[in-house]
Amino acid sequence: MTTIRTTLLALALLAGLPATALAQAETNAPHAGPTPQSQQQEQTAPPGLYQIPGQQNVTRPEDVPLFVPAQDQLVGRVSIPDSKLATLVQPEGRTWREFRTFWLRWGAAAVILGMAALLTIFYLVKGKIRIERGRSGRTVTRFSGPERFAHWTLSGSFLILAVTGLVVTFGRPLLIPLIGHPAFTALSEGTKVVHNFTAVPFVIGLLMVLVFWIRDNIPEKADIAWVKSGGGIIKKQDYHPETGRFNAGQKILYWGVIFGGLALTISGAMMMVPFGITGISGMQIAHVVHAALSALMIAAILGHIYIGTIGMEGAFDAMGSGEVDENWAMEHHYGWYKEMFAQRREPGMRGVPAE
Ligand code: HEM
Repeated sequence: MTTIRTTLLALALLAGLPATALAQAETNAPHAGPTPQSQQQEQTAPPGLYQIPGQQNVTRPEDVPLFVPAQDQLVGRVSIPDSKLATLVQPEGRTWREFRTFWLRWGAAAVILGMAALLTIFYLVKGKIRIERGRSGRTVTRFSGPERFAHWTLSGSFLILAVTGLVVTFGRPLLIPLIGHPAFTALSEGTKVVHNFTAVPFVIGLLMVLVFWIRDNIPEKADIAWVKSGGGIIKKQDYHPETGRFNAGQKILYWGVIFGGLALTISGAMMMVPFGITGISGMQIAHVVHAALSALMIAAILGHIYIGTIGMEGAFDAMGSGEVDENWAMEHHYGWYKEMFAQRREPGMRGVPAE
């Protein structure tokens, strides 16, 4: 009974009833039966007072259908400034909820765990990529201090965003059974705040990386040879395609991070200020883009972290100390090594070996 009355009240509100008529609507609810006062009100009510899409001459609250299957929506009219309250039923919301509760969870789990499984298999089959000629003991500067600061600002904030985002995506089914509702409430409130604020260093890191490395990431002819050779990773071979400072794989990652990061920033901002930038449909689209892209980027970054750590000998030094072994530089970025030598940026370099 209470539910019916509440629903009718909401519908009356949607229909833009004045306050007196609202009270009338409550007493007019079917369970209460019409009163003489309400009958009088009905006679004076203008035709079509309740504006229901696809229906005409609905003048009494009890004639207002609870659901309009023909249009699959229920949008009324409100006299208060908050016009978004005029939408009581938004059918796209069901599609979005299915994405949020089913497709997103299974899709993200498949992409991220699938990548982790692939990397594990790759490591077990191929092992660590070694510096073929061993370490020379001489190093060449690969990344300056500001470049490494930009990288770790971007990567540190990305990892925090990834973990806090995954708590939001998987918290309900995975964490509530483990830690219970009260602890999860506190945790999810905290992670949401951390997630929102970490967006700031992420954007700063993204802009720094954009400025520092854009010149070295412009596609060139040599990239085709790198792709054809399988990046020197998939095909085991003596020949290492000559690449500049970044190879084609790194360029793909770079542009993926730049454009993906930009899309995550825009879609995140659209959700951070609810109804400030877009309406409910816009926020749903922003959420789908944000969530799906995040899952793809987390998977891609897993691959990147793998190569930067256990996957390739000598790679981490580039972002750790900023210095890489000369043999590593010659084997993986010969074009860049030659350039460094020609520019005499590194006076201690022993020379450019014959190709
Ligand atoms: C713990 C995590 C990470 C490690 C260990 C790591 C390691 C590295 C290393 C060693 C390099 C230099 C590669 C070279 O010298 O050629 C590098 C470059 C780079 N990293 Fe990371 N990284 C991590 C996380 C991230 C994240 C989260 C992002 C972006 C969201 C990112 C974006 C980049 C980009 C754009 C480059 C330059 C291009 C490239 O080498 O692929 N990194 N990283």
